[in-house]
Amino acid sequence: MALVKKAKECADHIKDHTSALVVSHIDADGLTAAAIMKKALKRRGMDSRVIFVKQLDQKNLQEIADQNPELIIFTDLGSGMLDAIKSLKLNAVIADHHQPQGSYEYHLNPHIFGFNGGIEVSGSGMTYFIAREMGDNGDLAALAIVGAVGDLQHAKHGQLIGLNRTILEEGVKNKVIKYEKDLMLFGRQTRPVFKLLQYSTDIYFPGLTGSEEASIEFLKQIGIRQQGEKWRRWIDLELSEKQKIVSALIQFGLTRGIPGFKVERLIGEVYTLLCEREGTEVRDASEFSTLLNSTARYDHADIGLSVCMGDRGKSFDEACVLLNEHRKNLVEGLNFVKEKGITELHNLQYFDSGSKIRETIVGIVAGMSASFVNNRNLPIIAFADSQDGVKVSSRGNQDLLRKGLNLGAAISQAAKAVGGNGGGHDIAAGAFIPRESKNEFLKILDMKIGSQIN
Ligand code: C5P
Ligand code: C5P
Ligand code: ZN
Repeated sequence: MALVKKAKECADHIKDHTSALVVSHIDADGLTAAAIMKKALKRRGMDSRVIFVKQLDQKNLQEIADQNPELIIFTDLGSGMLDAIKSLKLNAVIADHHQPQGSYEYHLNPHIFGFNGGIEVSGSGMTYFIAREMGDNGDLAALAIVGAVGDLQHAKHGQLIGLNRTILEEGVKNKVIKYEKDLMLFGRQTRPVFKLLQYSTDIYFPGLTGSEEASIEFLKQIGIRQQGEKWRRWIDLELSEKQKIVSALIQFGLTRGIPGFKVERLIGEVYTLLCEREGTEVRDASEFSTLLNSTARYDHADIGLSVCMGDRGKSFDEACVLLNEHRKNLVEGLNFVKEKGITELHNLQYFDSGSKIRETIVGIVAGMSASFVNNRNLPIIAFADSQDGVKVSSRGNQDLLRKGLNLGAAISQAAKAVGGNGGGHDIAAGAFIPRESKNEFLKILDMKIGSQIN
């Protein structure tokens, strides 16, 4: 396969060096990508240092160049800055899955080989393909799956497909991961079962989501019992109890008219890391990825990286503390959107969180708010104040993609037009723009999206 050949070229180039600077993205996919590369380098006896950035721009690219590293390995980012990397004459390898802008010799990107980087493979997956050519690294498939799930690549089909499937099967063969059909609500491994309903933000269950009391009552009504004082976790329930809950939730979803509710959003493939202790935050790929987002998106990427590298002591404990904060922030963010509401233009809907939602998680909130906004025919655009301007995040859905929506292209063009920059995937994209240009940006974006979907 041409992609594997390119991965081997990248690996061979890396092997010609003694050390590397790894530059990666501050989310779960970026963390797992960096960890995969760091482990692969270490196993070859190569030195490495890892830094994380929110996005790559002229300024931080120049700063990286000024450090004069022997080799730079960009993971989960870089594809949007290929020309700049070239013109700075950086000696680089890029393993990314964002829509490419420009070209570069050692650039491994699924789009170039006819794969969809939005759903078929993540940045950590691309990094895994290179690592696999650097040595005996098949066990790292588990981290690549955590990265893919962190980017919600299993969301569209309720399971991983394409190159992710290849990685998954390799992980199964190497006994580091298993997959099965199960309830997709968050927290199966670690939370008392009512909390799965109470904190279900991917699917918003009106009346249950947000209410401990109602969630408990719902379970009692269908005959799920506590064990003494305690509620059991999902993994502790009998199969028949699980089935009861699933049917009741399907019933609830279908009769309450939840926007976009489908059984496939409730039941799908889940991924279990076999080398991790049962009942911990790193046993399930989805919980693991959220744990990682809780670190990197709050300036603590070092903690997440240590967890990826295997620390189940101090860093793991610190990450779990950050996880609580993160969950709280997401709930507060969602409440903000619910209270403040969302403004519709012709071809998009948006909310501006100002300084109320952190720019590094506003995209997650935008994605989750899709579960309760009424109009599913418009993509959601979100703004958050950022240090040097405004952060933009956008999220679409499958129906909109079928109509021709490509947020990555629209956002990148609209941002450029107002002196900012951005990009991403067809279904999710982001940008930074100057503060005073928000209205102008919205006008242009509205038009661009209009010409894509009409
Ligand atoms: O940087 P990047 O590739 O890491 O992130 C991908 C983004 O796309 C994630 O934030 C993820 O939430 C979003 N996404 C989405 N819906 C999908 C697939 C991805 O919102 N179906
Ligand atoms: O930040 P957010 O989660 O909204 O990002 C959505 C997608 O857009 C991610 O894949 C992210 O890497 C990408 N993005 C980008 N350039 C930016 C901002 C975000 O490619 N300036
Ligand atoms: Zn990614």
